[in-house]
Amino acid sequence: MGVKVGMIGAGAMGEALISGLLRSELVKDNDVIASDVSEERRRYIEKNIGVKTTVNNVEAIAEARVIILAVKPQNIFEVLDEISWTVASSQLVISIAPGITTAAVEERLNEDVAVVRVMPNTPALIGDGISAICFGRYVSGEDERIAEAIMASVGKVVKVPEKLMNAVTGLSGSGPAYAYLIIEALSDAGVKMGLPRATSTLLAAQTLTGAARMVLETQRHPGELKDMVTSPGGTTICGLYELEKGGLRGILMNAVEAATNRSKELGGKE
Ligand SMILES: NC(=O)c1ccc[n+]([C@@H]2O[C@H](COP(=O)([O-])OP(=O)(O)OC[C@H]3O[C@@H](n4cnc5c(N)ncnc54)[C@H](OP(=O)(O)O)[C@@H]3O)[C@@H](O)[C@H]2O)c1
Repeated sequence: MGVKVGMIGAGAMGEALISGLLRSELVKDNDVIASDVSEERRRYIEKNIGVKTTVNNVEAIAEARVIILAVKPQNIFEVLDEISWTVASSQLVISIAPGITTAAVEERLNEDVAVVRVMPNTPALIGDGISAICFGRYVSGEDERIAEAIMASVGKVVKVPEKLMNAVTGLSGSGPAYAYLIIEALSDAGVKMGLPRATSTLLAAQTLTGAARMVLETQRHPGELKDMVTSPGGTTICGLYELEKGGLRGILMNAVEAATNRSKELGGKE
């Protein structure tokens, strides 16, 4: 890609993105400058990731083609107020702050700047996330390609209209927590049936990983894959019957709806 990147906020997600960019060789270590208010984080990033850091957000983005805003939503406007005078229309701003619209970022900047909004999820920290991205009104085709390549360095990428970002938050943003709960519950169930805890958790987690990969790699409908492991009068149909009686589908659908609604309440404008 060969572009310079200024990363504002070098916390968990900032670190994951810098690592992803270096790992996938999209940028070289001397093409990235990360800024963070925390001296401890700056020292950690320089020592462990090997890119230059600064406390000065303006310095971090001075020569950047891409500016990534990787601070919490409550800090984003103070950061924008600090850098707005220097951000030029030749730069691309990528924001990963939930609930902050592309229009809200555009309005804070002096020039007509390309703004991309991203909703990543936690498995990005191990390079296996999924990010939904949407584009502001000044985004060019080249900007789109750059933003997609950057997010692809930490997982999969889907493009959605901005009005669907709250639904993405409710599904894939909050989704890892749903999956952890399911894995924990399956592990408890295995322990109840006599399995040692470590074995039970491994069986549960790998079963979810394997099943998810079957859906992604075979591209078959999940219902068809379910039917393939459900033999007449067998064990699986007895388990499935209990899940249906307990209303698992409805519960999961309600969970995504509740999280989507909460995302809207928290200011996730569309
Ligand atoms: N982690 C995830 O899995 C995940 C998933 C989806 C979306 N996100 C979003 O990604 C963004 C970053 O999340 P994160 O988990 O990486 O948060 P984080 O670990 O708290 O990282 C943010 C970093 O920015 C620093 N910071 C705060 N104000 C600053 C300022 N004015 N200038 C420069 N740096 C500043 C923070 O320092 P202090 O801690 O000292 O304030 C912290 O080191 C958030 O908007 C979050 O909602 C994260």
